[in-house]
Amino acid sequence: MSLPTMRRAELPDAKQLALLAEATFRDTFAVMNTPEDMALHCRTSYGEVIQAREIADPRMLTLICEDGGKSIGFAQLRWGEAPSCVVARAPGEILRLYVARDYHGRGVAHQLMRACVHHMTEHSSDVVWLGVWERNPRAISFYKKSGFTEVGEHIFRVGSDPQRDIVMARALV
Ligand SMILES: CC(C)(COP(=O)(O)OP(=O)(O)OC[C@H]1O[C@@H](n2cnc3c(N)ncnc32)[C@H](O)[C@@H]1OP(=O)(O)O)[C@@H](O)C(=O)NCCC(=O)NCCS
Repeated sequence: MSLPTMRRAELPDAKQLALLAEATFRDTFAVMNTPEDMALHCRTSYGEVIQAREIADPRMLTLICEDGGKSIGFAQLRWGEAPSCVVARAPGEILRLYVARDYHGRGVAHQLMRACVHHMTEHSSDVVWLGVWERNPRAISFYKKSGFTEVGEHIFRVGSDPQRDIVMARALV
């Protein structure tokens, strides 16, 4: 593997980002959800128009990680409301952080996390938070390793299924 590169997504990336986002979501969660819930979630969350809107949203930042021109991971940051369990002056959220399966355990997620923290700090956020499904032990382990601790919970709906997400947060210096 050549050294992966990281850049901000631009509007022409929307289609590729939508494909990567849906593929990694399905790859991670299809075995634990019904096809109907997966289809509904993907229809309402992924698509060129949806990701173009996210890329253009001034309250969001999308980062793409590439290996030899191929998209292998992405992260999306969002600034705005946070759940009450997140105690912060200026909270920032990691809305999505996904790495293609072939690249798990190879430092790509760590590289994305470092970039997320950098942009959060640039944005003057004092706390970064995220929600992670309680049935996603690998991600929970990765976030703990990245300095996050559990601060609460919220419901995240996948299709018609209300799932318990653990809310995790990390202070920024
Ligand atoms: C979550 C994700 C970004 C983490 O990236 P990664 O490269 O897999 O992370 P790492 O390998 O550095 O760290 C994962 C840790 O979990 C551990 N782990 C793996 N399976 C585990 C399990 N079933 N239970 C507990 N820990 C587990 C690994 O051993 C590793 O710890 P270690 O470095 O101490 O050995 C990546 O796995 C991913 O994209 N997953 C699919 C999408 C996803 O779930 N995104 C997060 C949504 S909130």
